[in-house]
Amino acid sequence: MATKKKTAARPKAKAKAASRKVVKLASRKPAAKVKARAPAKPKAAASGIKIPKRSMKPWGQDGKALDGVRILDFTHVQSGPTCTQLLAWFGADVIKVERPGIGDITRGQLMDVPNADSLYFTMLNHNKRSITLDSKSKEGMRVLERLVKTCDVLVENFAPGALDRMGLTWERIHTWNPRMVVASVKGFGPGPYEDCKVYENVAQCAGGSASTTGFRDGPPLVTGAQIGDSGTGLHLALGIVCALFQRNRTGRGQRVLASMQDGVLNLCRVKLRDQQRLAHGPLKEYSQYGENIPFGDATPRAGNDSGGGQPGWILKCKGWETDPNAYIYFITQAPVWEKICDLIGKPEWKTDPDYAKPPARLPRLRHVFDTIEQWTMTMTKFEVMNACNAVDIPVGPILSMKELAEEQSLRESGTIVEVDHPTRGKYLSVGNPIKLSDSITEVKRSPLLGEHTDEILSKVLKFTAAEIAEIKASGATGEAPKAKMAAE
Ligand code: COA
Repeated sequence: MATKKKTAARPKAKAKAASRKVVKLASRKPAAKVKARAPAKPKAAASGIKIPKRSMKPWGQDGKALDGVRILDFTHVQSGPTCTQLLAWFGADVIKVERPGIGDITRGQLMDVPNADSLYFTMLNHNKRSITLDSKSKEGMRVLERLVKTCDVLVENFAPGALDRMGLTWERIHTWNPRMVVASVKGFGPGPYEDCKVYENVAQCAGGSASTTGFRDGPPLVTGAQIGDSGTGLHLALGIVCALFQRNRTGRGQRVLASMQDGVLNLCRVKLRDQQRLAHGPLKEYSQYGENIPFGDATPRAGNDSGGGQPGWILKCKGWETDPNAYIYFITQAPVWEKICDLIGKPEWKTDPDYAKPPARLPRLRHVFDTIEQWTMTMTKFEVMNACNAVDIPVGPILSMKELAEEQSLRESGTIVEVDHPTRGKYLSVGNPIKLSDSITEVKRSPLLGEHTDEILSKVLKFTAAEIAEIKASGATGEAPKAKMAAE
């Protein structure tokens, strides 16, 4: 609390410098040694958990945040793999269990290079190890039992009931390993739809996003951001880390559930806010209000309205006739309204009672943005951005994936990384979007199907050579001559 107050009281320039410092710290390579006196004895935090002696190693050189955490990764497609990839980037040892001969279905989906794992797969499974295992066979279950006993977390996003049908009920897992955290993504939480299979866009529709995205006079729209899959994976990752933290105190694991409908609804929180505001009158920040179109009984689609307290819209910039992304999002933030007026050549709006104050502008937002657009159309989106940022007006150029892929600063921060892969060669990926200053992410390529089967059986699970031979001969890992014969 005290720190917060201090920051709030800081002059703007200092606060800006401080925020720049944080960004720099996150992306900076480890530098000098920490010069601080280590406390004599471990202390206890308020939670009662012992805090170890402070590390004296240079920043970023004392391991990773989740070192020592081992994950049994039973995930596939996008939501679950997003979660376990994040945990792997933070240092967890993620062991991905895949069906022999097939693996995660995305390995072969949206393929662009023949006989190489797809980008769909490679971009969601960095820093993991892969073991192939038929979990429905006797020997497969023998391996799984040992994996459960060896790992800290099991993460899965099978269809409802699939884990139980495999024989891996919570009760069984908890008996084998009472410390294990069992984390699941499901389409819906408990209720009438809990047994349904769900993909990204189903979640976007069921979680309130589609009904509030698009233009008022058009159909509901899904968004490009994978808020149902990757968004839920993020939610699950937080749940897992919290469960591990609680385990430090309680000594026991627990179940973690992130439903995709809940995750999307959480991200649509502001739309449920507006739903309730509707009971008290029209939503004046929506341009529909200025256009005298009555509101219905549910939060409407609002096109490109910001929907927040600071009205905004997407405006054309120079070149819009041929470039589909020559646009900019312009926010008429109240504190900089006078600067906006000066910049767009409408200084008289500063004192005009129809435009000077935010409530007066609400019924005429369309006209305000049309006027600003006359100005933005005279420049490229980057020129508009420079001109606006010079006087603190918040704007967002519409960046294409091509522009993002080529953006040097994203390469330097590790947000976009180039990865080399043995069968597909070099490709770009999104690296870890969360930067920790003392746990530096190294992005390593995704594993080939079953690449680490032997290593995991022997080094992690400590099966003897004879036991490994037995397991393989059974076909449980899909590599035995017996298994091949059966498939022929
Ligand atoms: N060995 C043997 N069997 C395996 C296996 C292994 N290593 N891994 C998976 N299987 C089996 C499962 O046990 C299941 O068998 P069952 O149906 O006989 O019990 C089967 O493979 C298929 O699993 P399922 O999850 O039903 O896959 P699906 O392709 O039919 O459905 C989804 C895919 C994504 C729709 C579904 O998994 C789902 O709804 N998941 C939860 C929500 C979610 O995460 N959706 C977003 C995905 S990005």
